[in-house]
Amino acid sequence: MNHTADISVVPSVRPTGAALGADVEGIDLNDALSAEQVTAVKAAWAQHQVLRFRGQQSLDVQGLAAFSRHFGPLDRRPTASGGMSSVHDALPPEITVISNVKVEGKPLGALGDGEAVWHADMTYNPHPPKGACLYAVEVPPAGGNTHFSNMYLAYETLPEELKQQIEGLSCVHDASRNSAGELRLGFADNTDPRQTVGAQHPLVAVHAVTGRKCLLLGRRRNAYVPGLPLEQSEALLDRLWAHATQPQLTWTQVWSVGDVMMWDNSCTMHRRDSFDPASRRLMYRTQIAASVAS
Ligand code: OGA
Ligand code: MN
Repeated sequence: MNHTADISVVPSVRPTGAALGADVEGIDLNDALSAEQVTAVKAAWAQHQVLRFRGQQSLDVQGLAAFSRHFGPLDRRPTASGGMSSVHDALPPEITVISNVKVEGKPLGALGDGEAVWHADMTYNPHPPKGACLYAVEVPPAGGNTHFSNMYLAYETLPEELKQQIEGLSCVHDASRNSAGELRLGFADNTDPRQTVGAQHPLVAVHAVTGRKCLLLGRRRNAYVPGLPLEQSEALLDRLWAHATQPQLTWTQVWSVGDVMMWDNSCTMHRRDSFDPASRRLMYRTQIAASVAS
């Protein structure tokens, strides 16, 4: 249940000390936030790219959706694939479940227990989502950490020669498989990047809010730079990916129950470690739609 916020409470923002990310403290996400609190969170989000709110155990799915809506309209969860449990259908339509937990043999949510390779969400669409919020309800005792990479810094730290080389170049982002490697419904299996089906975006993007340049890579599998011979496209992308995922450009979230992570999908990437299939991990997720989506 929402209740009235104590508007005297201004959240405090504590940077992680790594390449990106900050903890936001002194805010209960189940509260109806004041305009000042929303402004403070937006400013922190623009500055730090990934925000963590700890100790939100009392948050419910309605509260998560209401909090997320402060940052834009939310996408509805994708239609679940055939093999997924229908138990989560009772949740609000903006809530997606990320989980390996099975009910009557069927997964309750997406992504299972394996690694989710480096990616930004749904960049294979012409207008990728602005961001997402992920709320931990159950976490495994080990593994399942989520790593984030700063794509402003990835761009800024490129060798000058490489910056010039990619200016004006685009990349096709593969829509056929998700970050867990599963083939999406309606897509053919493809291993030739020149045949990739998905949106094309400039390799250097300008962030809609901050106006800063960032590297836009999306996902490595089947990515292709149109206009280049395949070997040159592969070599260029390998170089950019190796650069963008260096440890000094990243920060790792080690989850506790009650953590809410909120990432800017335009200027970060993320990946998730695998974890023991015998343990349980359950997250609720919202996705903030692209501002230009119709
Ligand atoms: C996602 C995602 C990673 C995780 O929800 O988009 O990639 O840690 N999740 O579950
Ligand atoms: Mn993701």
